[in-house]
Parts: sequence; structure tokens; C-alpha cells
Amino acid sequence: MYKQIPTNKAYKLLNTGALVLVATTNESGTPNLAPIAWNTVVEYDPVTRLLIVSDKEHRTYQNIESSRQFTVAIPHASQHKLVSELGRTSGNDTNKVEKLVEHPLKTNTLGHIVPKGVIGYLEYKLLRIYDEDSVGIVVGEVINAMVEEDAFTDRLLSEKEEGKTLHHLGGKKFVKPGNEVF
Ligand SMILES: Cc1cc2nc3c(=O)[nH]c(=O)nc-3n(C[C@H](O)[C@H](O)[C@H](O)COP(=O)(O)O)c2cc1C
Repeated sequence: MYKQIPTNKAYKLLNTGALVLVATTNESGTPNLAPIAWNTVVEYDPVTRLLIVSDKEHRTYQNIESSRQFTVAIPHASQHKLVSELGRTSGNDTNKVEKLVEHPLKTNTLGHIVPKGVIGYLEYKLLRIYDEDSVGIVVGEVINAMVEEDAFTDRLLSEKEEGKTLHHLGGKKFVKPGNEVF
């Protein structure tokens, strides 16, 4: 038996890819971080490209547009409270990195700030932005990728504690991967 769900809730069936934190800086160098659940890889050869969907009002979007670069960090499931807090306020109103990130880590190439304890991070240069009404579809090409040694061999070790990513079910609900790989 299948049941019909409202079309504006249909996204919840597809929402569960790993949630990311997008790190950027504004023109005066103030750092910003925001959770983005809507992201996907679009290519891997010769290098990884991805897209993220961001509301144009977000500081994140404006920072990417002006700096033409961004970093995508993959938070550990245990960081869900910090993720929710970073999603509650906008960098338009406050320096939430200074306020909320207790242990900042500077990324290797772009010098963006991500929270210590993330599983890994990928630094991107902006390729293009597609305009889609109130949101921008931002496409980037990876220039550097770093991952916790214990979380990755030739793949993400989702079955190990170190590899437990965070997945957003919509609203205030998250889930993490189980311990079986098949
Ligand atoms: C779990 C979670 C997932 C989110 N995913 C997205 C998303 O995919 N795209 C988006 O535009 N906003 C998303 N948001 C909302 C922004 O993260 C939120 O509005 C944030 O305050 C924007 O911050 P900024 O203005 O500093 O960029 C999400 C929020 C949460 C809590």
C-alpha cells in the first residue's frame, strides 16, 4: 500500500543526503557558516563538482557571489545541535562563527573557518550560479579536500563512529547512518 503525500512535502523523501555546513567570508573577511541540506555531486572526473541550493537572502549566497569561493564541511552526527544553531540565525545579523563555534579550524587553502570535529571539508571555487526565483543553484569545483584519517579509506566509513554523517529529515529531525555496509 502506498499513501499520497502533499507535493510540498515530497522533498522529504529525497532530503537525506549528508547535510553540509557551508563556510564563506564576506568582503571584510568576517566568516560565516550555514547548514545546507540541499546539495549534490554533479561530476567527479577530472575533479569533483557539486551544487548547493541557497536562498538569495542568505549571507552564504551573498558571500559566495562576492568572493566566488566557499568551503563545504561535512559535520559529524554528534554536531547536530551546533548545526541547528547555525541554521537559526543569519550572518546578515551577527557573526555567528565567533558566537557559536567554540573550536574553530582554518581550512588549508581558502582559510575559511569550520568547526573542529567535522568529518572533512572540501574547498571550492565558484563555477556558476543558476538563477531559480528566490534561490540560487550554486555550482563549484573542488580545489582541495581533507578528511579525518579514521573516517575514510577508499570510501567513507559510515559503519564506524568516526564516519557518522548527519542527514536532515526536514524540520528539527535528523538521522545518522547505521552500522551495516552491504
Ligand atoms: C538542517 C538545516 C538545513 C538547511 N538547509 C538549507 C538549504 O538546503 N538551503 C537553504 O537555502 N537554506 C537551508 N537552511 C537554512 C539556512 O541554513 C538558514 O536560513 C541560515 O540561517 C542561513 O544563514 P546565513 O544567512 O548566515 O547564510 C537549512 C537550515 C537547517 C537548520
